[in-house]
Amino acid sequence: MDVVSEAKKLLQQNRRNTDGYQYTVPSEDRYPYQWLWDSCFHAIILAQFDPEAAQEELRSALSRQFPNGLVPHIIYWKPGILHLFDWGVEGTSSLTQPPMLAYAVWEVHRRSPDPAFLESIYPALLAYYKFLIEKRDPRDHHLVGIINPDESGEDDSPRFDAPLSAPPDITFAEHLALRTELVKDNTACQFDAELCMRNYFWVKDVPFNAILVENLRALGHIASFLKQGDGEHFANLHAELVASAMREKLFDNGVYVSASGTDYERLTVETWAQFAPLFAGLYTEDEAETLVRTRLLDPDSFYAPFGIRTVSRQESTYRAAGYPEGYSWRGPVWMAPHWFIYRGLLRYGYKTEASDIRAKSVALLERSGFRECFDPETGVGQGAHGFTWGALVLDMDEA
Ligand code: GLC
Repeated sequence: MDVVSEAKKLLQQNRRNTDGYQYTVPSEDRYPYQWLWDSCFHAIILAQFDPEAAQEELRSALSRQFPNGLVPHIIYWKPGILHLFDWGVEGTSSLTQPPMLAYAVWEVHRRSPDPAFLESIYPALLAYYKFLIEKRDPRDHHLVGIINPDESGEDDSPRFDAPLSAPPDITFAEHLALRTELVKDNTACQFDAELCMRNYFWVKDVPFNAILVENLRALGHIASFLKQGDGEHFANLHAELVASAMREKLFDNGVYVSASGTDYERLTVETWAQFAPLFAGLYTEDEAETLVRTRLLDPDSFYAPFGIRTVSRQESTYRAAGYPEGYSWRGPVWMAPHWFIYRGLLRYGYKTEASDIRAKSVALLERSGFRECFDPETGVGQGAHGFTWGALVLDMDEA
């Protein structure tokens, strides 16, 4: 299989036009809507060969921004299709997803400079990051909270079992029921971050905050390019503040660990989350060396024959085969974490290891096709078919 041409074909096939907006659905059958971080990935990939489509994808993702600045994680676009998640607001969810927007916008501009595009999108972008900093951090601790596991993009990750009170051997249906219950709670607190976080679910998640740091830096570049001094100051200041707060409050024994609630209860389940800070350069070179050698490349924890496990094999929650009903973040390999890890490894100069991640990603696509996730031990595909994230291998070509 020529993965590059298959990836381009898939993005074309999953492209939709509704109400004057153009976007790409992650999978035709399972995910017939627009998802926020998926659209950022699509834009990063499209930036390489179709900058106009990349711009349209991001315009569309920002088109249903809330008055308070939140950018919803799903836009349903077509009425009448069964809603997978009905979070309460007409036509969109009321949650967000990892804040990859500024990175994607800057990447599109970096590859095909277009000041008019940056100018038109900048106010919405700035409002989104201000929302995260101002509304999702009510105690000014400089760590942004999520109010539901789906905001992490890793919906059923065992990282969230403690705050959700989920047992280690939870089934697919039971997990969905727990999250649906939480959505009812989120609706009861009207998605007001402070109320929802204090009463129901408040996680200061490592990947979300690491991604935020790198995106605030991208926002800083955009603001500087547009000579928006205030925005540049805001972005660079908060990138520093979040990075220092992560070090102070989420760093333990050489690794970054997510935390829950007002008391920062540590969420110690070992997941790929500990590698996400490589993407933002938050580990020192020595720390990164230990992390890469003793964890990432350790076959008994994360390094599997078919890729990087999203959960360490040592965890009781590790479930390589996922669920017959659909996707799982309880161990299977996903292409987005592969991409973040690839970028992180390159940042620290681990070229051989980065190209190994790419080779494993390509091998999975060749073996099992563009599936949602994969069994790390056998390479068998799981979840949705025709899933776009495999196209991220197009942005793994620099090692
Ligand atoms: C699943 C994934 C989430 C993704 C969505 C659409 O819910 O967990 O990260 O955004 O599918 O692809």
